[in-house]
Amino acid sequence: MFKINENYLKLPGSYLFSTIGKKVKTFTEANPDKKIIRLGIGDVTLPLAPAVIEALHKATEEMAAKETFKGYAPDLGYEFLRSAIAKNDYKARGVDIAIDEIFISDGAKSDSGNIGDIFDVNNKIAVCDPVYPVYVDTNVMAGRCGDYDFATERWSNVIYMPCTEENNFVPELPKETPDIIYLCFPNNPTGSAITKPELQKWVDYALEKGAVIIYDAAYEAYISEENVPHTIYECEGAKRCAIELRSFSKNAGFTGTRLGFTVIPKELKSGDVMLNSLWARRHGTKFNGAPYITQRAGEAVYSEAGKKQTREQIAYYMNNAKVITEGLTAAGYSVSGGVNAPYIWLKTPDEMTSWEFFDYLLEKANVVGTPGSGFGPSGEGYFRLTAFGSYESTLEAIERIKRLG
Ligand SMILES: Cc1ncc(COP(=O)(O)O)c(C=O)c1O
Repeated sequence: MFKINENYLKLPGSYLFSTIGKKVKTFTEANPDKKIIRLGIGDVTLPLAPAVIEALHKATEEMAAKETFKGYAPDLGYEFLRSAIAKNDYKARGVDIAIDEIFISDGAKSDSGNIGDIFDVNNKIAVCDPVYPVYVDTNVMAGRCGDYDFATERWSNVIYMPCTEENNFVPELPKETPDIIYLCFPNNPTGSAITKPELQKWVDYALEKGAVIIYDAAYEAYISEENVPHTIYECEGAKRCAIELRSFSKNAGFTGTRLGFTVIPKELKSGDVMLNSLWARRHGTKFNGAPYITQRAGEAVYSEAGKKQTREQIAYYMNNAKVITEGLTAAGYSVSGGVNAPYIWLKTPDEMTSWEFFDYLLEKANVVGTPGSGFGPSGEGYFRLTAFGSYESTLEAIERIKRLG
């Protein structure tokens, strides 16, 4: 008789986006004349850059001819893409990453979920609270998190690191020692960033404790401030304790095209064992590569035209972020994020809970955002708006919120 992985049964349903969907549907059915503006989802809206489209067409044509057709991609990804990454994302920032330390994938969600494969089930994880839910849920599936307590909304075997106004949404070093530390900067959902000295503290801590940092830099392209590191490897010693995850989703609009990569330096070891070798083995066994066409599209992101065009897209979204931040601040809200990330994290007014504020905004301004409590208990009393909408709808949403007084 087969048995299932019972860890899956421990997962509480993810009600966040389905509850939002239901509430919005009920509201629109009752108010068909109202125009809803959605600033809730973390998906991009601008089309792929022309340089990317051109590369996609060209690669598609190559697939049509016997001489240029491509079958399975190399295990770690095509060298042309890994070289472009090593040169542009690392060398240009003074960091030496070899191309065999870069693993091309179909995105940071899969990588952040799959990376747990190479770690023992008895490792203890530490996560920020609030947090991108994939880190915790995938560790629950692996049996690493203990039991869920519905009252505290916490897992018994997870170290939570609250990120609140008091610590400027950057976690403090935990009192209990973790084995695996998940950090995401610039952050989803709070939009906060970490300075280089602050990140260096985490690297020093991980080295001292023998912990590994899984550093999710999916929003790196949104960094606008000088003192914010673009890669954890800008920190001294990080190659010995950190894995970095990257994505083409938010810097180049690949959410539906799918491309990302993970960096595991060869210096990162457990005893004599290189994590790089373990991940290479895992990657080669369980993954058959991102499509050639997509990898060529990824390469085009690093062309001169691609860089210029994707920079313009990011500037467009970040102008929306500015509109939201300035508008809400003028309306008396306490707002953070939106400077190095496309997320604006606001404090709900009048001690409203996150869901109360969600209902209030939906009913009074017909604007949809995301309740902060959906990302973890420390998100209660906060609310996330995203800069990924159109300029016109963002402007209108903020005007409506301002009119609420
Ligand atoms: C922090 C973070 N990591 C990873 C991802 C997923 O990225 P990808 O589209 O590359 O899977 C997201 C998407 O919203 C995210 O917010």
